[in-house]
Amino acid sequence: MSLPAKSTRDDRRKTTMTTSTRNPALESPSRAGSGDAGRSGPVISVQTLWKVFGRHGGDVPGSEELSALSRKELKERTGCVAAVCDLSFDVAPGEVFVVMGLSGSGKSTLVRCLTRLIEPTAGHVLFKGEDILGINERSLRELRRHSISMVFQHFGLLPHRRVADNVSYGLEIRGTGKRERSQRAAEVIDLVGLSGYENSFPDQLSGGMQQRVGLARALAGDPEVLLFDEPFSALDPLIRRDMQNEVIRLHHEVGKTMVFITHDLAEALKLGDRILIMRDGRLVQVGTGAELVGAPADDYVRDFVREVPRSRVLTLRWIMRPAHADDQMDGPEFGPDVVVGEAVRAVLEAERPIKVVQDGTLLGVVGNAEILAVVAES
Ligand SMILES: Nc1ncnc2c1ncn2[C@@H]1O[C@H](COP(=O)(O)OP(=O)(O)O)[C@@H](O)[C@H]1O
Ligand SMILES: [Mg+2]
Repeated sequence: MSLPAKSTRDDRRKTTMTTSTRNPALESPSRAGSGDAGRSGPVISVQTLWKVFGRHGGDVPGSEELSALSRKELKERTGCVAAVCDLSFDVAPGEVFVVMGLSGSGKSTLVRCLTRLIEPTAGHVLFKGEDILGINERSLRELRRHSISMVFQHFGLLPHRRVADNVSYGLEIRGTGKRERSQRAAEVIDLVGLSGYENSFPDQLSGGMQQRVGLARALAGDPEVLLFDEPFSALDPLIRRDMQNEVIRLHHEVGKTMVFITHDLAEALKLGDRILIMRDGRLVQVGTGAELVGAPADDYVRDFVREVPRSRVLTLRWIMRPAHADDQMDGPEFGPDVVVGEAVRAVLEAERPIKVVQDGTLLGVVGNAEILAVVAES
């Protein structure tokens, strides 16, 4: 039940801050949460997942002809809605994995399939290697109570229960004793910054505070994975920014693996180690923010990321060039995952290219021209 030691998370944070500002999970195995030490496989592995609503929806994934149709064509031909189509991806331990797409792209259906709140039509969802599509009701309940918690857009709080009782509700269902429940509730209420509101009712709190209760409730059972389905969409922009920072802080402190659904690219870039872009139920691209901006898979992604300030997302890896014979090679060194915006000043002040170095190897250099090309576009 105890949270991972805070010092471990802070250490990890220091490491990621110095080596990389975006901490791409797949590149740094050290990002694994302390509880995951020694296990490097994905926490969640989604494999060829389908959810097709409608009569005979089950026939679609296995049919070469039907499964190849666009969502619109399928709807016209069969009346079925393919909410999630042939989706595969892995979520690494400790990663913040964002699923982004416009309304209707299948995000909520997908995230609900991860714990079978919606029953998938076909495919596999592996939690730590075990296919949850094969487990019985009882194991499923255990999974939802102990391992994977969800934070909903509309908070889902019980109006007649005080904050502390909302937070400890899951523990109560689990059969945790009263003393332990209230102790744990106090702990996570403090963690989300709500100390002093234990006895308030939800309708006495602002939207942002209610969602903090939602967060505390999800954290109370110390799950390994937190799922968020557009948790901040209903909040005012400023509160929303606070809550995004809160998630980042919590992630550093408790180091949970997170799957975060949003329709907002800025939110995705701010929170996500990696981002999966969905369109009409299908995967369009999955990658770091820098990968999406630096190498969009198609025009759809290109359009999506057009307005993104490139200097805040692209890393030096994306703009470096090979060193020329006449480059002065005594400039400062940076890692390849440093965000361009953070190196601008160093480059302009150095009056010589900065060196992009990883593990002692020179990968390339970045001079004024490379920096200005990005900054000018931003
Ligand atoms: N129970 C349902 N029955 C039929 N169609 C559904 C159902 N739930 C969702 N859909 C459809 O599936 C598609 C994906 O919906 P959803 O997963 O809610 O998308 P998002 O969360 O990205 O907005 C939409 O076209 C939606 O209308
Ligand atoms: Mg949704």
